[in-house]
Amino acid sequence: MTQTEFKRRRRQLMRMMGKDSIAILPAAATRVRNGDVHYPYRPDSDFYYLTGFAEPEAVAALIPGRKQGEYILFCREKDADKERWDGAIAGQEGAVEKYGADDSFPITDLNDILPRMLEQCERVYYAMGCDPDLDQNMSSWISQIRSKARSGVHTPQEFIALDHYLHDMRLYKSRSEIAAMRKAAKIAAAAHKRLMSECRPGIKEYQLEASFLHECSRRGARQQAYSPIVGGGNNATVLHYVDNSDKLENGDLVLIDAGCELDYYASDITRTFPVNGKFTQPQAQLYQLVLNAQLAAIKQLKPGNAYNAPHKAAVRTLTRGLVKLGLLKGQPAKLVREEKYKKFFMHGTGHWLGMDVHDVGDYKIDGHWRQLEPGMVLTIEPGLYIPMGSKGVAKKWQGIGIRIEDDILITRDGCEVLSADAPKTITEIEHIMAA
Ligand code: GLY
Ligand code: MN
Ligand code: MN
Repeated sequence: MTQTEFKRRRRQLMRMMGKDSIAILPAAATRVRNGDVHYPYRPDSDFYYLTGFAEPEAVAALIPGRKQGEYILFCREKDADKERWDGAIAGQEGAVEKYGADDSFPITDLNDILPRMLEQCERVYYAMGCDPDLDQNMSSWISQIRSKARSGVHTPQEFIALDHYLHDMRLYKSRSEIAAMRKAAKIAAAAHKRLMSECRPGIKEYQLEASFLHECSRRGARQQAYSPIVGGGNNATVLHYVDNSDKLENGDLVLIDAGCELDYYASDITRTFPVNGKFTQPQAQLYQLVLNAQLAAIKQLKPGNAYNAPHKAAVRTLTRGLVKLGLLKGQPAKLVREEKYKKFFMHGTGHWLGMDVHDVGDYKIDGHWRQLEPGMVLTIEPGLYIPMGSKGVAKKWQGIGIRIEDDILITRDGCEVLSADAPKTITEIEHIMAA
């Protein structure tokens, strides 16, 4: 992402905010794992989206129309000793020169400077409840300002949730965001493909996980967008299974839900395939049904269609198929109305995808599902889950969990499946696994 793009985003937000307002955004905190060990630092998505600044201990203030500068970045001061241990710090000069701030102050001066900026504004755009320390500062700054009201100091009158505006911006991906997401999806798709060729009975779930991480890392995506799920057999029926510790058995399916993060953009792909490379008949029947549901859902992805059109299509296809296979009994339309499919398919068909795997953006506007528009990216991920011991279900279906998940961009005339490189038809999968 170029500095020009970050600047364009700040401009767009400031245009929506209008004069006499201030937006305040904190950087994410560093998190201790244990002892002297920290988790790898991940910037806050909102903060990074507007600043491109990946250091902790920073606060950005946007004040549209302010003469002395509209974009102020509070950040760490340069410190040669600290930098010897932990690497470069941009400092105030770097904030201006490299990151396009109009002005920059040491983060340690926040308490002195920010309240004076607040006094000049009518409206404060701020996401309350996300950063407890800054929340506390904020409320003490406001009460400080209020206590000076009699001496003529002005108190801001309106507090507005920043997330709403910002998250609507983040929902529509720019050309360079789409390029990053396409790359992230391609890398994860290649890793999924590698797992298909490596898998064989007897290896451990974590060995497939290790190959996935290796393939992503060596292609430059060194973080995962979420913890990978590698579940063989019945483990695939546990939706958030992340132990990944069991042996993969001959005759079972394995479900892998894994996606990398590249330049802070996520991919989120699920593939399910037979551990030994060949689907049994019941596995193939259920797999083809999930695939048909996924394809029916993807068919609904075009501008103007409602967000839930794909879910409706998936549910209709799954329900009809479940009746045909004898897993549900009754009239498909009635079973859909009564949500009987939920016994086997209990989650949504997808979600927005972007800097966060479950990305931001409203799904409904004024109580109605929003329309799909070019630039939106979402997942389509129907599944069927039939745990061992399911009552009233023939033995041959039990211990099977299947999900097929792709990452999809809405385009002007339809959609583009960003994760299309990961094979998903029965023929393709069996072909790769036989090679
Ligand atoms: N991997 C998280 C999800 O599929 O939503
Ligand atoms: Mn997903
Ligand atoms: Mn997923």
